[in-house]
Amino acid sequence: MPISELKKQALAVFSGAKNLAELDSAYHLYLGRKGKLTLLLRSLRELPETSRREKGKEANDLHDFLEQQFSKRKQELQKEEFTQSEKAERIDVTAPGKRIALGRLHPLTRVQRAAIRIFGSMGFGVAEGPHIEAEWYNFDALNIPANHPARDMWDTFWLKDSKNSRLLLRTHTSPVQIRYMESHQPPFRIIAPGRVFRYEATDAKHSFDLHQLEGLMVGRDVSVAHFKAVIQKFYELFFAKSMTIRLRPSYFPFVEPGFEVDMSCVICGGTGKKAKNTPCSSCGHTGWLEMMGAGMVHPNVFKAAGYNPREWQGFAFGMGVERLAMMKFGVPDIRLFFEGDLQFIRQF
Ligand code: DAH
Repeated sequence: MPISELKKQALAVFSGAKNLAELDSAYHLYLGRKGKLTLLLRSLRELPETSRREKGKEANDLHDFLEQQFSKRKQELQKEEFTQSEKAERIDVTAPGKRIALGRLHPLTRVQRAAIRIFGSMGFGVAEGPHIEAEWYNFDALNIPANHPARDMWDTFWLKDSKNSRLLLRTHTSPVQIRYMESHQPPFRIIAPGRVFRYEATDAKHSFDLHQLEGLMVGRDVSVAHFKAVIQKFYELFFAKSMTIRLRPSYFPFVEPGFEVDMSCVICGGTGKKAKNTPCSSCGHTGWLEMMGAGMVHPNVFKAAGYNPREWQGFAFGMGVERLAMMKFGVPDIRLFFEGDLQFIRQF
């Protein structure tokens, strides 16, 4: 092949190389150890002296020229590749950040923790008990004997009979009172938050799976006055509002006297009315919300736990955690707490 043809070809191939890898093979094709020009240069040795000079110069010039062209093209391609990767890897520092999806505490957990903190500030410790409970702790020891009509107050999920005692899903947190007293000596004050289960139909106000917070304070002269002060303070701190509470006589087998505690309605402020004199639906226009059951611990309960009822007295109470959360956050339906709907949970 004439040198001029080789030159034309090589230049075309060099400039046609679309990237450094292609350019590299082009280099090998012409200038490598077995490249076309290299072979040509080597073959010059066999030419006669006269034409060797002339051809040799021509070929050497072409060699230098192609080397030059090669480095020129190489620089071009390097620059191109750099700008390309610069473009591809460009970081837009003004782009908005990626939002990290943070987990959150369930509103019931928040309420429970707030209650633990507030009661803790008044000297109450935290006690716990099992969800699967023996009939004895859930009923008998709480002065609710078998076949007594008072048992019907709690619709119960019974488990298959076991050998020694019948088992159930605890219907309230009150059995924790007995468990705690069995292993501790008064004076003490504790709360016991936790899950409870009721065999009943579900609607906006009822769930078969809910949470309660039990309280128990025992000492030599613990009175209803102590109870009233503690509970009023609790509601004030929890709702961050001044609060009125009232006790209404009521019946629970494990207390005597027993009462229900009402709190001034957090929605209407206890007036029973909302703006423009419309009736407040949250409290049924009464200005009061029923918040919990409570009372002075029944002597039979102390006996069942191994205490001398002549020596000790105390108050106990049990409130619904969902109800607290519904009042605090304005949640209209108890079922929302158990649906696991992130749109709901993320509001808290
Ligand atoms: N255990 C009761 C319930 O589930 C609530 C209750 C009432 C708890 C009175 C108490 C109490 O400790 O003294 O309905």
